[in-house]
Amino acid sequence: MRVKLVAGNWKMNGTLASSQALVKALLPPLSALKRAHYAVCAPFPYLAAVGQALRGSDVALGAQDVSQFEDGAYTGGVSGAMLADCGCRYVIVGHSERRSVFGEGDETVALKYAQALKHRLTPILCVGETLAERESGVTEEVVGRQLNAVIQRCGLAALAQGVIAYEPVWAIGTGRTATPQQAQAVHSFIRGHVGDRRLAGSLLILYGGSVKANNAAQLFAMADVDGGLIGGASLVADEFVAICSAAQGAKETVKT
Ligand code: PGA
Repeated sequence: MRVKLVAGNWKMNGTLASSQALVKALLPPLSALKRAHYAVCAPFPYLAAVGQALRGSDVALGAQDVSQFEDGAYTGGVSGAMLADCGCRYVIVGHSERRSVFGEGDETVALKYAQALKHRLTPILCVGETLAERESGVTEEVVGRQLNAVIQRCGLAALAQGVIAYEPVWAIGTGRTATPQQAQAVHSFIRGHVGDRRLAGSLLILYGGSVKANNAAQLFAMADVDGGLIGGASLVADEFVAICSAAQGAKETVKT
């Protein structure tokens, strides 16, 4: 049985006070939702305080990036060990904003994925195509290549230890969501790409890209959509709680 996961990606937003206030608003309603898992991925400087505010709850702490290096002279870098020290359970790797704005390639993303696992963090590996790639019919090729970089460096079993987030770049922050059928098609491709039936059957595949309270239920109802990675809507307590309730309401998928 795959239990759904909804993770908020706060990106570079908020203040210390607003982050703490958001957690305070989220915890009572989320603690009543027992049938799915929830996480918030906070900016680095707020991780410790947000972790403190989450203490004793079932909502997990996540970070938005991790260094590909272990430690040393990497000014500005934040290591997997540091994230683990701050109480993180999850870390996003290979978000399309990291890939496009910060120039992270598939190989760097794979190294980050390896670092996350090394420090017992669950990597949330983002994959997804641009609009031009979708329109030229290479979505599966692009997503397959992004997955293969991690499989080649870390192995198939390691891929199954993480969480995949399918985030079509054209849907991120644009208000343009993939239809449930478009999401399902790529999620099903990802599960098939893993090959091994047992590993594929337990792999969590989240959808991300303009998920809102009013479209979450239809997306989460798809057979291979195991929850969501939520950007903008995760900054608004009522919206995020409504999305989390949609995951709770969605049928748990029976492992095939
Ligand atoms: P969005 O972002 O929900 O604001 O589209 C999703 C993401 O980038 O993870």
